[in-house]
Amino acid sequence: MTHLLSSTAERAINYLDNINDRSIVPESSAVNRTAGFIEEMPEEATSPNDVIQMLDELGSPATMATTGRRFFGFVVGGVYPAALAANWLASTWDQISSYYQITPATAKIEEVALRWMIDVLGLPEECNGAFVTGGTMANFTALAAARRQVLLQAGWDVEDEGLFGAPSITVVVGEEAHPTLFKSLAMLGLGRKRVIKVPVDLQGRMRADALPEISGPTIVCTQAGNVNSGAIDPVSEICDLVQKQGAWVHVDGAFGLWAAASQSYAHLVAGVEKADSWSTDCHKWLNVPYDSGVAFVKNEYALRAAMRISAAYLPAPKEHRDPSDYTPEFSRRARGVEVWAVMKHLGRQGLAELVEGCCSHARHFRDALSAAGFEILNDVVLNQVVVSFGDEQTTKRLIDRLQRDGTCWAGITSWQGQTAMRISVCSWATTEEDVELSLKAIIDIADNVASL
Ligand SMILES: Cc1ncc(COP(=O)(O)O)c(C=O)c1O
Repeated sequence: MTHLLSSTAERAINYLDNINDRSIVPESSAVNRTAGFIEEMPEEATSPNDVIQMLDELGSPATMATTGRRFFGFVVGGVYPAALAANWLASTWDQISSYYQITPATAKIEEVALRWMIDVLGLPEECNGAFVTGGTMANFTALAAARRQVLLQAGWDVEDEGLFGAPSITVVVGEEAHPTLFKSLAMLGLGRKRVIKVPVDLQGRMRADALPEISGPTIVCTQAGNVNSGAIDPVSEICDLVQKQGAWVHVDGAFGLWAAASQSYAHLVAGVEKADSWSTDCHKWLNVPYDSGVAFVKNEYALRAAMRISAAYLPAPKEHRDPSDYTPEFSRRARGVEVWAVMKHLGRQGLAELVEGCCSHARHFRDALSAAGFEILNDVVLNQVVVSFGDEQTTKRLIDRLQRDGTCWAGITSWQGQTAMRISVCSWATTEEDVELSLKAIIDIADNVASL
């Protein structure tokens, strides 16, 4: 066992040591070699060393270097060494992480991590929360609590009675809500299509002046961090308008909520604490390994009522916090351990520097691309840059070539009707030199594409 584990650690370290010297996108020959995984279910055993050797030799070269310093696609963080190491140790513990009595260490560490996040994100102290797989499940979990509470106010217990015959819930979203929010709504029986969509401004922010009249059970889903522009909805104003009518306000803050960690950016999310629930990702800006997200709910009882189970064989509620009372999963890995490790490692100051560093790199991209004559389509308020290189065909061709070039990776989007490249800076590891190198690749390729 010792040889297996130490040689695997060596392989992992070797992977990380080389990640910034290889193409971000895997060579197609490496991707083709993953065909080597395709075989009939083996009848005979294989030694663990041979299993790991195959995994590393066929798998590692075919990975996208998302944990390297120059991956700017989607909204993808890297992994802090402290988080990776904590992940290894916590996986070694192999804790079920549902009840304090059974797994006290992970239950306690997660409780502390939650408290620290509530503090750093400036959320109300009475919040409780749930560690889940990511933003989608964080939205799902928080909105389950919302569904519970708005129906309870209308005299309906949705956990016991279900949605058949329940009073109707009005769900309000911005026109620029993230596509996964609609999946969460669908999973909760609230429907993808029966929402009221509120128009947005040029940055993709929900327009508070365009909100509908609110009456009856209502959930208003706002957003902190548009996946393209990074813009943040006027959550404070929206809360003031709808909460007095009894509406529940949710904030999808997959990455934008982290603006609160820096004094220079906290003004962008001023007032989000007025909301009733929030979701965020830790595998994005906090740079912990996939998968990791958190739902926060101010009314702890609503979340517990939506998630809690009991049975004769389960530990009875005691004074300690049982993770299972708050999460959709029963058995689960303790994702909060990595969150704790990063927050302990960085401290408040390090967290602020992480946010500020990424935002500063984003501004560097904006300034250099704009100086090179390209059109920046968004106000670069956070870590996101949306840039057009001309007509649709030119921009598409450039992005395709950039992705194949392998110096860095950025994806495509459509913004305000224009095809554009989106650059998202989320990794702790990205340096000024990485931005320079990436800019050179983008501008060189743009010159080539223009001369075609
Ligand atoms: C605003 C927003 N909400 C939700 C999500 C979904 O998060 P996840 O992929 O962690 O489920 C994302 C992902 O980019 C996002 O940007």
